[in-house]
Order: sequence, then C-alpha cells, then structure tokens
Amino acid sequence: MAKPVVIVNFKAYREVDGKGANALAEACAAVAAETGANIIAVPPAVELGSIARSVKIPVFAQNVDPYAPGSATGWITPSMVKGCGAAGALINHSEHPTQHRFIEECVKLCKGCDLTTVICANDVKSAVKYAAAHPDYIAVEPPELIGGDISVTTANPKIVEDTVEAVRAANHSVSVLCGAGVKTGEDVRTAIDLGARGVLLASGVVKAKDPAGALRDLVRYI
Ligand code: G3P
Repeated sequence: MAKPVVIVNFKAYREVDGKGANALAEACAAVAAETGANIIAVPPAVELGSIARSVKIPVFAQNVDPYAPGSATGWITPSMVKGCGAAGALINHSEHPTQHRFIEECVKLCKGCDLTTVICANDVKSAVKYAAAHPDYIAVEPPELIGGDISVTTANPKIVEDTVEAVRAANHSVSVLCGAGVKTGEDVRTAIDLGARGVLLASGVVKAKDPAGALRDLVRYI
C-alpha cells in the first residue's frame, strides 16, 4: 500500500509571506528526506514556481481555476501550475470554494496536465458527490474544526470513517484524506486507523514555533 501522505497547506498566513514560504518548504523537504515520509508542500500561488523548482518534494497549488491556457487574466490554470513545476492542486478548499459545476472541469484539466487532484469536501454527502469527478483524493474537513485545537479525528472520527466508507462505495479509485485541527503524530495515526490515506493540515505546522519539529512529530508513526 502507498505511504500515507501529509499535505501541508501554507494558506496565506503571515508566517509564509515572502521568504517564510521558502523556509517552510525547505523544512518540509528536510523532514521528508530525514524520515522518508511523503510530505507535500502547498505554498501560496505567488511562491509556487520558485518553491516547486527548488525543493525535492511534491508541491501543490492551493487552487486551480477551470480555464485552459488563453484569455484568462488573473486566473490560475492547471497548465500554468504544471508548467511551473508543481505536481498537483487542491480544488474547492472551504476557504476558496469552487462552484460545483466547475469542479469536474478543474479535475479534467488537471488530469490532462498530469496533475494530482485533491478535492476538499465539508461533509460525507459532498464527498460522495465529488467522488464522481474522479479526483485522486477527497479531503474531508469539517469547516468548524479548521484552524482549531481539536483534531477532526478526536472531535468527529465518525465523519472520517463514514467518508472513507461512502467514497469507497461510490468510486473505489478515490482515496480519502482528512483534515481540520490535525497537529500531532497521534492525530495522524488515528486518521490512518480510521481508514484515511493521509491528512491535509495547516496551522499545526505553519504556525508552530518549530515547524520542522512539528512535522517530525506528525510523521513519527507512519
Ligand atoms: O487545508 C488544511 C486545513 O483547512 C486545515 O487547517 O489549520 O485546521 O490544520 P488546520
């Protein structure tokens, strides 16, 4: 079975303005090299290319828009994400929702560029709906737990188990991740025990005093 993934969404925290994003991506890469863990960095769009070109771990975009190359000023096309060296993209994060009718198009355009896709879902019902778009991953994240101190794996383990079961039934080729409040190695281990193939997290690493230390703790059981 493939190694669990730990996806670190840098979001737009002040800590990752400018050089901060680079330093965090380097910490992700260093811990991945040291532990063999499958860590993916998700920097802000303005730093995507420089980070994707400089670190040896996969780098994903925080968002893509449903446009092919052409007249699409200011939008982020899957083609430009691929072109700058990134390996995948989040789609429909709860802080950057994509209209439902465009989600499938985003996945299609990403697949056409050989980008890995992670669709975020707030609940089991939307996770099942998005599984029909054939992403590589669906990340279930209850919005009310995002950025908080209690991990979804503690506050609502049922949503993780139910999403794993429902998505497996709907589309066996889609893997489920979970996120919101994930901060420790125990949280990650519980996520895996609940059937998730990894985690999507942010504040536990981005806002940590020692991001590399936080990452080492997060990956210690996987
Ligand atoms: O994309 C990750 C996310 O929304 C969870 O954030 O800070 O609760 O780990 P956080």
